[in-house]
Amino acid sequence: MSGLVAAIYLLSAIMFVVGIKRLAKVKTARSGNQLAAGAMGVAVIGTLLEMKTFDPGWVVVGILVGASIGAYAAIKVEMTSMPEMVAIFNGLGGAASALVPVAVYWQSYVMRPHATTAQSVAEVLGSDDALTIVLSVVIGGITFTGSVIAFLKLQGTLRKGNPILLPSRHFINLGLAGGAVVFAAFFGFVSPYIFVSTVGLLLLTAIALILGVLLVIPIGGADMPVVVSLLNSYSGLAAAMAGFVIGNPLLVVGGALVGASGLILTQIMCVAMNRSLLNVLVGGFGQQDVTAGGGGSSEYTNVKSSGPEEAAMLLDAAQSVIVVPGYGLAVAQAQHTIRELADQLKKRGMKVTYAIHPVAGRMPGHMNVLLAEADVPYEELVEMDNINSDFRNTDVVLVLGANDVVNPEALDNKTSPIYGMPILHAHEARTVFVVKRSLSPGYAGIKNPLFERDNTMMLFGDAKQIVQDLLREVKEL
Ligand code: TAP
Repeated sequence: MSGLVAAIYLLSAIMFVVGIKRLAKVKTARSGNQLAAGAMGVAVIGTLLEMKTFDPGWVVVGILVGASIGAYAAIKVEMTSMPEMVAIFNGLGGAASALVPVAVYWQSYVMRPHATTAQSVAEVLGSDDALTIVLSVVIGGITFTGSVIAFLKLQGTLRKGNPILLPSRHFINLGLAGGAVVFAAFFGFVSPYIFVSTVGLLLLTAIALILGVLLVIPIGGADMPVVVSLLNSYSGLAAAMAGFVIGNPLLVVGGALVGASGLILTQIMCVAMNRSLLNVLVGGFGQQDVTAGGGGSSEYTNVKSSGPEEAAMLLDAAQSVIVVPGYGLAVAQAQHTIRELADQLKKRGMKVTYAIHPVAGRMPGHMNVLLAEADVPYEELVEMDNINSDFRNTDVVLVLGANDVVNPEALDNKTSPIYGMPILHAHEARTVFVVKRSLSPGYAGIKNPLFERDNTMMLFGDAKQIVQDLLREVKEL
């Protein structure tokens, strides 16, 4: 590698690291994203310079096709469908990372001069390359089919909340993992024949693809964002392995960054839901969605509902208001309207803040992104740990399309599936308005006793419509 290429790779790696760092704060996230995209552009230039000979026609066509699909998907995708998009991108990344080492195997082993000499892959390419090809194919294959299943589950094509639990699935998975070890040995290490190693590679690939399906189907819809984040981490690992195989240090660095950040995000989500990663991966949690979904209304006995007029009067008399946004806010696309309402309330001297739960919505940072889109000032978004002590001194809490993240069962019902999950203490405020369309449950599929509390009033309807009504009423007061 020339000094120039090494310098370009180093620049790109630094841009990736700084870009990721900037993504951590809403204020700098946009420029962080642009920096990371720029880093990818620099990486492509470095790679082309390193390759020296290439067909520019193919490169241009590849860039145009890829960029057009990416731009179209990014522009078209609804905010609520973002996890699906991330899932499918992870899957394609995993597939690419599996295919690159296969191409290396084909070119450097099968098509090598004197290929008729009986030598194993490890003897020709070295044991380390043989092992990294195996790892890329296994991790990339699992990532590909696992992500496709996650995508189908999130889309609802594969009955969203329903974990599919095969009998003896752990034994089946163990058997497949054992088979993968055997075929990996035949592929790379024990057989000197091209035919045997190619069949070994094909069977290893098939096992990886089947394992991807079997590892994700038992996991319920509620845990899918965690799975998507984990698969994101796998796709990074697969890319890093592919980087080792083709000897590209930047691919190793980029893959390692994705692998590590995906793992950290997975851990953050598990902590925020009070679940262990093992508990998520063993699966079955989302089953409650199906049994309780939609049927929760009959369990409520003491629910008070109110109208926008009464709610507006209480809001007008308040001095402090906390808005708790949730998934329903994103569905209703009520972010702009709630900002307008908050502006009205602030004009009247009220303190308005937004309480952000780390897993509100359907993806990490969902609420931050949504509210940033509506130009809500960053300083008004307060993280759960910093705002929880404020609820007890707050006049009005407006829960907008949130459910699980304000469910007090997480604090006091040991038998609840969400017991121990940290929640926003909305129930401690003087008055709580819960805006949602019905009494049906949230993602965890369970009843929410907040709706029956003495200080709670339900405002039934679509979040955007209700907030528009509130805005109109407040303006008229
Ligand atoms: P949820 O508990 O899912 O509740 C959302 C509520 O929004 C529903 O009860 C629904 O009630 C209401 N809703 C839907 N459309 C609406 C509309 N147009 N207008 C008004 N309300 C509407 O949401 P949450 O409180 O944000 O909690 C997130 C859940 O997702 C948690 O269980 C969390 O563990 C899980 N989860 C999140 C993540 C990440 S990273 N965010 C990861 C894994 C799991 P109606 O149908 O009655 O309207």
